[in-house]
Amino acid sequence: MLVVAHRGASGHEPENTLLAIEKALEMNVDAIEIDVHWADGELIVIHDRNVGKTTNGQGLLSKLTFAEIRQLDAGKGQRVPTLDEVLQLINGQCPVNIELKADKTVVPTLALIEKAIKDYHFDYNKFLVSSFNHHLLFQVKTLNPAIHVGALTASCPLDYAAFAEKLSAYSVHIDVDFINKAFVDDAHQRGMKVFVYTVDDEDDIIEMHHLGVDGIFSNYPTQSLLKIAHLTSAPKPEAPLR
Ligand code: G3P
Ligand code: MG
Repeated sequence: MLVVAHRGASGHEPENTLLAIEKALEMNVDAIEIDVHWADGELIVIHDRNVGKTTNGQGLLSKLTFAEIRQLDAGKGQRVPTLDEVLQLINGQCPVNIELKADKTVVPTLALIEKAIKDYHFDYNKFLVSSFNHHLLFQVKTLNPAIHVGALTASCPLDYAAFAEKLSAYSVHIDVDFINKAFVDDAHQRGMKVFVYTVDDEDDIIEMHHLGVDGIFSNYPTQSLLKIAHLTSAPKPEAPLR
């Protein structure tokens, strides 16, 4: 079971900042997830469309200039980073899950992926583009079928992972509150990986392990990696008699 640093190592450093990315790299995580918006002609790494939640500013991204966004403190004096800065820092050291949070992100993100492959030691297999907006993923696949996409859901649909198969998704990413064995089995039968967000609690990690999911998004990656290492090295419980 892989551990993806959620918004960087966001339990330790301010989420979606270069500090959180550095921390995740130090922790040797399996991959790093970040959230991406399009603001004033730039791809920036931030979760919300309103800067009030994670910075000392307030208001909608759409009402701010890039210069104004860059003056904000995203925690510990960190600036809101651009996606380019984040990819340059990661420099191909681990895979990156770029979660598209807004319209207009697709074309510039695909262009930046090409730049990162050329300049920052990445290849296509090191990128996974995900979104709750499945229209954006459809656009990604139409423009470049080689890009892996991850279809996000905060529900357990009637036809399970069928929506993700329609998108030729590499993986389906589901909220820990709605996952169950039927969903995992269905996704696997359709040939897709299952990643679950956000899994920090020890009991949840154990449950995800038993469900056979392929990866979890964690705010505390080291703790999760250690717990999984323990689970996978522990002797299997004896088979029941009948
Ligand atoms: O990509 C997994 C997870 O990050 C999705 O939810 O709201 O934390 O971006 P959110
Ligand atoms: Mg996210």
